[in-house]
Amino acid sequence: MPEGSPTRVGAVRHVLGARVTVALDGDLAGVAPIFRGRLQPIGQIGSLVRFPQGLVDLVGQVSLLGISELAGTSAPAEVVQTGERWLQVQLLGEIDRSTLRFQRGVGSYPGLDDPVHFATADDLAAVFPLAGENHLRIGRLAAAEDVALCLDAGRFVVRHAAVVGSTGSGKTSAVASILQRFARDGWPAANIVVIDPHGEYPRALGDDAAVSSVLPRDATNQLSVPYWALPAADVLEVFAGSRGRPTTRSRFDELVAEARRAFVAEADWLKLDPAAVTADTPVPFEVRPIWHQLDYENNETRMEAKKPDTVCEEDSGKAFELNPARFQAYGPGGAAPFKGPMHGVHDSVPELLRLGLMDPRLRFFQEPRADAAGPDPLIDVMASWLGGDKPVSVLDFSGVPSRAAELAVGVVLNLIFEAAVRTPADGVGIGRPRPVLVALEEAHRYLGRDAAAMAGDAANRIAREGRKYGVGLVLITQRPSELPETALAQCGSIIALRLSNSADQGRIRSALPDSVAGLADILPSLRTGEAIVTGEAVVLPVRVLVDLPDPVPLAEDPTLKAWREAATVPDLAPAVAAWRGAYDVA
Ligand SMILES: Nc1ncnc2c1ncn2[C@@H]1O[C@H](COP(=O)(O)OP(=O)(O)OP(=O)(O)O)[C@@H](O)[C@H]1O
Ligand SMILES: [Mg+2]
Repeated sequence: MPEGSPTRVGAVRHVLGARVTVALDGDLAGVAPIFRGRLQPIGQIGSLVRFPQGLVDLVGQVSLLGISELAGTSAPAEVVQTGERWLQVQLLGEIDRSTLRFQRGVGSYPGLDDPVHFATADDLAAVFPLAGENHLRIGRLAAAEDVALCLDAGRFVVRHAAVVGSTGSGKTSAVASILQRFARDGWPAANIVVIDPHGEYPRALGDDAAVSSVLPRDATNQLSVPYWALPAADVLEVFAGSRGRPTTRSRFDELVAEARRAFVAEADWLKLDPAAVTADTPVPFEVRPIWHQLDYENNETRMEAKKPDTVCEEDSGKAFELNPARFQAYGPGGAAPFKGPMHGVHDSVPELLRLGLMDPRLRFFQEPRADAAGPDPLIDVMASWLGGDKPVSVLDFSGVPSRAAELAVGVVLNLIFEAAVRTPADGVGIGRPRPVLVALEEAHRYLGRDAAAMAGDAANRIAREGRKYGVGLVLITQRPSELPETALAQCGSIIALRLSNSADQGRIRSALPDSVAGLADILPSLRTGEAIVTGEAVVLPVRVLVDLPDPVPLAEDPTLKAWREAATVPDLAPAVAAWRGAYDVA
């Protein structure tokens, strides 16, 4: 290529492994020459440059730039003449000039004084694949806005991904935009499950998603996560909010194990040996009779303390209606009636359990009721988690106490994973024959140190082994430093939006490949919706303007418009009624 070529920007001055220092040509105006009527931002961190080498063009990414006098004693200043402007470039791959195909890695290195060119739109088109059969658009290159960046859909889904960024940086919008592409650009049978703790996604996905909510507007969208799929201790925690004292725990375990065994013995659709059933085996049982029993023991009075048949029952109550049994009050000062042997042992647990069973925010745990006559209720429940025939399923947990939400998410993740593990590659169902992608908002809540055991175990197992069984994860979090290091290391792709916290930046920097660690330095200065995308789903780590989803999720900041209107006393009645309704009798 002749010296005066319009795309030339400078020449190679220093080669250190894959790091090349380029001195910009003295006659180059600024660092953004105009080519074919467009400003070419070569002097931008993340812009691409080209080193023609005969049959191939090496491609590199600008990672540092400066003027040598200002660079003090840093490495390039030793090589580049005083007054020269320089770029530091990381070599990343090469374009074969005959096939115009790009591949990662370089076979040869540039020589001294070799010319360096900025990458034109044609060069970039060779590097970045277009949307199509296997590729899904996510946005535009920040350095060349007419070039689309597409993700390799297969790798993005099964090799896991992390979407990280400070609050308000655009994570939910970025994920909504990706999900819209899956739903609209030719993946109608996708299996994407979104765990949505704040009810932000339904608006963005419209008819493309099946939405199940804990507190639905109409009964068809009821989210159900049967409590009986949880171990006994977690059932107690869900409804009573605590695990109780050891005596209560073991009594509850005992009653649950009995109830589960009785169900297995009665149901012919369950082929299990009742003797192998424990308090934690995920088979159906009714929790209300167990509540009734605990409450009965806790309040029982007798005419003769040791004789159960002398019980002073006034009303036996109704377990299914949550009516407790009533007894004569015990006598003062050692007179009959006496307290029963377990009187008061369970403390407030039975009462808390009753309130939990009445709480509408927890009603989703009590659906569906299982019938010993069959069929297996889990099949329909799991199909509803997967969104039926819609490509995306949003599980909206807004309004659920956070501990209960964690436990419910644990059940959902665990069952999806177990189903995938048990589906053979050539079988029907989910997993290898039809992969599932789980998008986990607030992932640090489920994977962090304080997470409920079931949620943490299930999410970590999917992160570790999901790829083998066709279950992918998208971890969405504003606190990447709170994710376990192993989970982040399992994410094949990272979409890093603006990150202001230095611990979080450090975590992402260590997850980036060495060759582009410099890109991590721009994390705090990214604009809203601008991200560094790196990993297996993209050919090169790049800075991207993520497409704004249309419609946007319900995530924008509230406006102060109402503050400009005439002053009135706010009407709080509906909100108070809804809040109090949380304890209405079911
Ligand atoms: N690509 C984009 N271009 C322009 N604006 C955007 C873009 N993505 C998001 N925004 C705007 O930024 C705001 C916050 O976006 P979003 O709710 O997606 O952020 P977030 O990272 O999920 O925040 P949080 O951590 O609070 O959930 C929204 O008002 C949205 O309109
Ligand atoms: Mg969000």
